[in-house]
Amino acid sequence: MKRSLENISYENRTVKKNFDIILISGKKLFNFSSNDYLSLSKNTKIINESKKWSEIYGSSLSSSRFVSGNLDKISVIESKLSEFTGKEKSLIFSGGFLMNSTLIPTLTGNTLGQRNKVEIFSDKLNHASINYGCYLTRQRVFRYNHLDLNHLEYLLKKSDKKTPKFIISETLFSMDGDLANVKELRVIAKKYDAVLYLDEAHSIGIYGKDGSGCAFGKKYEKEIVVGTFGKSFGSFGSFVSTSEDYAKKIINFCGGLIYTTALPPSVYASIHAALKIVPKLNKERKNLLENSKFLRTKLNKLNIDTGNSQSHIIPIILKDEKKCLKLKKKLEHKGFFLKIIKSPTVLKGTERIRLSLTSSMKKKSLSDFCESMKNILT
Ligand SMILES: Cc1ncc(COP(=O)(O)O)c(C=O)c1O
Repeated sequence: MKRSLENISYENRTVKKNFDIILISGKKLFNFSSNDYLSLSKNTKIINESKKWSEIYGSSLSSSRFVSGNLDKISVIESKLSEFTGKEKSLIFSGGFLMNSTLIPTLTGNTLGQRNKVEIFSDKLNHASINYGCYLTRQRVFRYNHLDLNHLEYLLKKSDKKTPKFIISETLFSMDGDLANVKELRVIAKKYDAVLYLDEAHSIGIYGKDGSGCAFGKKYEKEIVVGTFGKSFGSFGSFVSTSEDYAKKIINFCGGLIYTTALPPSVYASIHAALKIVPKLNKERKNLLENSKFLRTKLNKLNIDTGNSQSHIIPIILKDEKKCLKLKKKLEHKGFFLKIIKSPTVLKGTERIRLSLTSSMKKKSLSDFCESMKNILT
């Protein structure tokens, strides 16, 4: 067994404003492994809104949204979310893992008690939750080479013309930090009359107009966009934004929405508050992406392989678990906390250390990190 859970702690982050520091065994470390891309988990407006809703509505809604948990405020947040993503209808789920693994069987007509023939075309590096969702459909899944739209088309051309098709891709890949070509995916989906399912977990809040994601707007009618609030929104939960018709199907058949307790009021409150704040953070987004480029360039100058990263997610690809472990330990000694990504999360032989940047990180900390890397490597 390779995995273990590491205990971490924090000082009072909102008071000390040391947003990117974590404590491990009492030692302060600069955290390069958080998905709090816009540093919103420590935003006082969001925290205060959460406190307020807890005081008014209590700590839990204590039942599914389909029983007595559908607090009226949720539909208001969902409408705001639809304006933000530019889609007709949005639904808020619990965690994104639960959503992807139950939504894909639902939308393909293969949830419990249903069986409908479909063909699914899924990028080989899609997230585990998408793979679970595909697996649970019990239908044929074609995994096309990562970002290789020629391979996708090759597989589509060979497929059965009469069988309904689904294409599934992340818009920003979580372990590589590279971006899918959404425009081209839409063209291909239209050509083969396929449903296009896009996961914006790592791009919502950062890319697109005012952070509205790579898939903003109603550009293709058979499109489903999902994302999570656990990353750039500084909260928890997930969402799907799509057409009225797909939303009806989800409300009627998706177990991951129907048979689970609604999120706590404090969480809906933080999503509500973040939705007001995220569009205003253009300066933070620009800064985050500029800092990411700055770090990537510096790492590349040290001959470090960062793959095809184009974003705030930067892998240090060492292709060997032991090498990753050695580097992690040395960097930890110098005050940096990083996570190793091993197989099966990534393919064997592509093991890496994954850096994720947040908007509160300063260039000085990134330069210090590169200096430490240089000292270790020379
Ligand atoms: C692409 C992608 N989709 C879905 C999820 C799951 O989201 P959540 O953390 O809300 O369960 C993740 C989590 O890392 C992810 O990277």
